Amino acid sequence: MTTDTTGTAARDGAPRPGGPADSAFVRACQRRPAPHTPVWFMRQAGRSLPEYREIRANVPMLESCRRPELVTEITLQPVRRHGVDAAILFSDIVVPVAAAGVDLDIVPGTGPVVAEPVRTADDVERIRPISRDDVSYVDEAVRQLVVELGDTPLIGFAGAPFTLASYLVEGGPSRTHAKTKALMYGDEELWHALCGRLAEVTLSFLRVQVDAGVSAVQLFDSWAGALSEADYRRYVLPHSTAVLGGLADAGVPRIHFGVGTGELLGAMGEAGADVVGVDWRTPLDVATGRIGPDKAVQGNLDPTVLFAPWPVVEAEVRRILTQGRAAPGHVFNLGHGVLPETDPDVLTRVVALVHELSGRRADQG
Ligand code: CP3
Repeated sequence: MTTDTTGTAARDGAPRPGGPADSAFVRACQRRPAPHTPVWFMRQAGRSLPEYREIRANVPMLESCRRPELVTEITLQPVRRHGVDAAILFSDIVVPVAAAGVDLDIVPGTGPVVAEPVRTADDVERIRPISRDDVSYVDEAVRQLVVELGDTPLIGFAGAPFTLASYLVEGGPSRTHAKTKALMYGDEELWHALCGRLAEVTLSFLRVQVDAGVSAVQLFDSWAGALSEADYRRYVLPHSTAVLGGLADAGVPRIHFGVGTGELLGAMGEAGADVVGVDWRTPLDVATGRIGPDKAVQGNLDPTVLFAPWPVVEAEVRRILTQGRAAPGHVFNLGHGVLPETDPDVLTRVVALVHELSGRRADQG
């Protein structure tokens, strides 16, 4: 009954009952009681779905991110199919970097590839700040999605400065991040200039999504686990803090995620997150001990467990729900993205199981 086009709040600023800001997902992020443990999957909008492969058949990845009607359809596909508690915008972490003037492409089966890797002060200068006009297709897609999704929350996202810097400095995906670290250790001033510029671009990109009506944001620092805690604090934390801190007044939960970050969980929480994403290596009760009682956790089923026989999947889901109760809020997810070979029916069953197990518990208690 509200006239609020973002769907997040009634006129007095309180969450509209039953609206996205009152959903199980947002409630769990905010450590408020939820009717069941909410569940969504990183990379849920993608190649595990035949309907995704069909619609993307002749459209290059970056182009598909720039077509609002395609973004809307692909974002909705996993919500329709699995009944997940949140949608995640279909885009990619390199979309804002391309909008900032970096010549790059997303190569099928490889990932982002940068034409001229960023290695000098001049290269950094060429990364322009971005405004809404540079990513108007994202603004448009989010506004369409908020209408289409109704009471289901939409998660906006961006890549964190370190993970983006890695693609830009390496020129593509890297296992060791050797060139990135060589720049980081070898020219600290240039490193901070690069990450400072990327933090600005990332913050602007997230602001566009928040202004258009997303109900939460996730900052992906997928490759931060390549760093020691001391190096993370010195070279990365200030820049991720600039992004998350810059959204402190945005009124939406902020999720901060990385892979292999067992040793960094406390620091990643300090960057200003409301929710810390945990990969499968750290049990959620151990993770919440490291993160502290004032943040929710998200995770952490190993994506490869989805290839195991169902009784194994079920036992793992039960274990994760139990360990998640140690945290003040739990959003069920995988420990990293859905692998393309995953059977989508298993994802649907996991959603139903999480709802059944966690909802029954709420009824009892
Ligand atoms: O649910 C969703 O899939 C939402 C959209 C989404 C994509 N990328 C679409 C995509 C999101 C949230 C991302 C984030 C992303 N992109 C991250 C952080 C998450 C993570 O996995 O750690 C990273 C590191 C990237 C960079 C990237 N983009 C890689 C490494 C790849 C290649 C790997 C792959 O899966 O093919 C991409 C390409 C990409 N991004 C695809 C999709 C659907 C595949 C493009 C295709 O279908 O050809």
